[in-house]
Amino acid sequence: MVETNTTNNDYHFPDDFWWGSAASATQIEGAASTGGKGMNIWDYWFQEEPNRFYDQIGPEQTSDFYHRYPEDIQLMKQLNHNSFRLSLSWSRIFPEGTGEINEEAIVFYHHVLDELLEAGIEPFVNLYHFDMPMAMQKIGGWENREVIDAFAAYAERCFAIFGDKVKKWFTFNEPIVPVEAGYLYNAHYPNVVDFTRATQVAYNTMLAHAKAVQVFRHADIPQGNIGIILNVTPSYPRSNRPQDLESARIADLLFNRSFLDPAVKGKYPQELITWLKEQGLFPKTEPGDSSLLREGVIDFLGINYYQPRRVKAKEHIPVPDSPMMPESFFDYYEMPGRKMNPYRGWEIYEKGVYDILIDLRDNYGNIECFISENGMGVQNEERFMEENVIQDTYRIAFIKDHLKWIHRALEEGANVKGYHLWTLMDNWSWLNAYKNRYGFISVDLKTMTRTPKKSAWWFKEVIRNNGF
Ligand code: BG6
Repeated sequence: MVETNTTNNDYHFPDDFWWGSAASATQIEGAASTGGKGMNIWDYWFQEEPNRFYDQIGPEQTSDFYHRYPEDIQLMKQLNHNSFRLSLSWSRIFPEGTGEINEEAIVFYHHVLDELLEAGIEPFVNLYHFDMPMAMQKIGGWENREVIDAFAAYAERCFAIFGDKVKKWFTFNEPIVPVEAGYLYNAHYPNVVDFTRATQVAYNTMLAHAKAVQVFRHADIPQGNIGIILNVTPSYPRSNRPQDLESARIADLLFNRSFLDPAVKGKYPQELITWLKEQGLFPKTEPGDSSLLREGVIDFLGINYYQPRRVKAKEHIPVPDSPMMPESFFDYYEMPGRKMNPYRGWEIYEKGVYDILIDLRDNYGNIECFISENGMGVQNEERFMEENVIQDTYRIAFIKDHLKWIHRALEEGANVKGYHLWTLMDNWSWLNAYKNRYGFISVDLKTMTRTPKKSAWWFKEVIRNNGF
């Protein structure tokens, strides 16, 4: 049990708690076609279908971290952050995904890491945040096992090159998102809609994860740790009727356990294997996969939490011959009286984060974890601007309410070590571009001027006091 209150704070966090924010390469760097970077699926898709992107803004026009990182890191320091999660861009480091390395990228990331370390900010480095190099997608992306090997080779080089500066590594951010968005719901490239291919991609991604962990175990990184970042969405049934419970169980197996179990336990839950086989969705495996997955067990876990999944039994029999989808097995429902983020449209259910942490405590060996993303997107946030500062009191309330539940989980023995907001500064998002603003810091898209919002100053005090 952690001693959490030794001060005047109502909510006091342990002294070594990680505070900061998270971001990803494609969403902040810009310079998408310069600095020797190769094309990734986002650069390619924007070129092909700009109309799919909000305001037709593509990954070239992000917050220009590539050139402005010294200023951004100084802001983090000024705001007391002690850690920052960023991702490396695979296609910046290996423009073709494999083969020739781009030295300019290595210089860039060394500079960023040096600047962070000098500012006393611990870098948490993730290798993959939805950004498949186009050259790798062309040969099949995660459906092709050669891409798994290329990813492991990229990981190995990163560990060798940056391992003296980075102790906290992650293989993937939200590996389920490219599966859902790219292979089920036509929301990310390659816009496939096919449940069988989706389960194969999910499986192969976890093999790629395990291979990167395997490589990490042979890398010389003293005190280094490796993990994965999962967006866990607690599945709550509408009622205790057996049909609703069964629906929530299936959603939970598909969206949560299918990543949590291999990452933390090194194997898939038998219930999921049985269910996939029954549906004819079981992926193709090869000899050696099971032992590889066992080697993929992580040291610590990043949890991204935004909203829960509210599930009920299907009320209508699916149209005959309609393609099988996860929603062939359950329906979603809107819980009456639920609290909504009125500026983005997602449910806010703060207790969800506590439920996840308690689940990890009870069912996953209380693995060390931290909240690697949590945040509130807001449309047209300029309307809350007063005296040049966005008065985002709603974001302060949002963070506070989640921190209260995290604190309660800590008091009940959860092994949670930090909290990162999504995100540092307003950034470009997949399809939504700059529609929903999440940052502690606002960015004027014309001048690129950065201005901390009210929440940034409030959070600075939370960090200074280690609580509130
Ligand atoms: C998270 C992703 O799931 O959601 C981020 O890791 C993303 O990359 C964030 O930006 C917010 O999503 P959106 O669509 O509201 O911008």
